[in-house]
Amino acid sequence: MDDGVNVTGSLRARLALTLIGSAAAIAVLLFFVVRTYSAQIAQSGQDSILEASVTSILDAVTLREGDVEVDLPYVAFSMLSTDADDRVFYALWQDETLLSGYELLPVADAPDGGEIVLVSAIFDGAPVRVATAARILVGANDRMRVTVSVAQTQDALAGTLNRISRNVGLIGAGFFILSVLVASWATNTTIRPMERLTNSITRRGPKDLTPVARPVPLEMAPLVASLNSFMARLDTSLKQSEDFIAEAAHRVRTPLATVRSHAEATLQRVEREDNRQALRSMVRAIDESSRAAGQLLDHAMITFRADHLETHEVDLVELVEDLVTRLTPVAEMKDIALTVVSEGEARVEADAILLQNALRNLVENALKYVPEESEITLEVSATPRPRIEVRDEGPGFPPDQMQDLAARFSRGENAKDTIGSGLGLTIAKDVAMAHGGELTLTNMPEGGACVTLLL
Ligand SMILES: Nc1ncnc2c1ncn2[C@@H]1O[C@H](COP(=O)(O)OP(=O)(O)OP(=O)(O)O)[C@@H](O)[C@H]1O
Ligand SMILES: [Mg+2]
Repeated sequence: MDDGVNVTGSLRARLALTLIGSAAAIAVLLFFVVRTYSAQIAQSGQDSILEASVTSILDAVTLREGDVEVDLPYVAFSMLSTDADDRVFYALWQDETLLSGYELLPVADAPDGGEIVLVSAIFDGAPVRVATAARILVGANDRMRVTVSVAQTQDALAGTLNRISRNVGLIGAGFFILSVLVASWATNTTIRPMERLTNSITRRGPKDLTPVARPVPLEMAPLVASLNSFMARLDTSLKQSEDFIAEAAHRVRTPLATVRSHAEATLQRVEREDNRQALRSMVRAIDESSRAAGQLLDHAMITFRADHLETHEVDLVELVEDLVTRLTPVAEMKDIALTVVSEGEARVEADAILLQNALRNLVENALKYVPEESEITLEVSATPRPRIEVRDEGPGFPPDQMQDLAARFSRGENAKDTIGSGLGLTIAKDVAMAHGGELTLTNMPEGGACVTLLL
């Protein structure tokens, strides 16, 4: 941002990232938990059938006349059939001797009591689950240990697990998408009161320093409270300085006017030339001070108003004609004609008091610096940009000083004999700039100064 605000990060981004990040983490966690849990349930299903199968084989083992006899029950294998045609292996051992089945089938060390031990292993190149149980058979004069192992490949199980993984993955993705939507909704609702407050403050007029009345969330209350108290203090101090400017103008000008009239009256009565000379320079000094005080206070008022520009629709032609009416008596004293040139009206959004002040300074200058019996032209045009041009038939600006004349307290060498403080053009320039325009000084080819106030 280029409006001087030091920005670090974004609340919206931070909030959205936190919410979406946690949602992603939860989705991944959920995926693994559900998948592990379902794998365990699926495995225990296969395990219980293997256990049943081992038990039914072990139950079919009998001892007849010292020999172990087994009639392998059909159901022991049929119960293991799966959709995926998983392969089934078995091994039947009498002590260390293989009676039937696969010799290489991995066999777990099962206790004699008939408890079943389950292990996962690799057999014949495929992962298998092996259930093993052992039983002690006691004959007339011998005792032997029979061990039964049944193994099954895990294709059906793997298929089930894949299906579960896919579904849990889809559910996780759906959950994540939903969370992103909820996160953006939550982010917006959280940020919205802040945006509303910002809007209501930026939409205010420059002079509106009333407290914020719109309800805000609890967390924003301290900010709004300090903003309100800040605005209240600003309002008080602005009012004070406005009053101060008006009061100061009054207090400085009135006594100066009194002193001046006393000095003038005394001048009438005094005869001696050196005393009269002293009184004349005193009157001039008073005029200088009075003008300086007036211009300084005007300049202060203009700086103040320009900072809090309050614009209304103003017709420039009306404004110029008004001023001409007021200054005509002064112009007549020098036999100067004030002419207004315009084409209809020229309406602009501006602060009329500022424009009047600027324009008065320009016309005053023309009146001050031109010879008697000449003409001052005020030309108003609305296009291409609203402008007022003040032209006179005087000597024009001193050419080598032109760039500096609008600076504060700057006076030209042609102004030595006239009273002035060097603030008139500064005021006009500040007013133009406050309205987004500019002030240009030129000398016309046929002689005479031309000042353009462009808005
Ligand atoms: N119309 C003009 N013709 C010739 N010179 C001018 C004209 N207007 C201004 N100037 C020159 O520009 C200088 C600055 O003008 P500015 O109005 O800022 O100050 P000022 O007239 O000397 O004092 P004040 O603040 O009392 O108006 C003047 O001193 C004068 O030299
Ligand atoms: Mg002036």
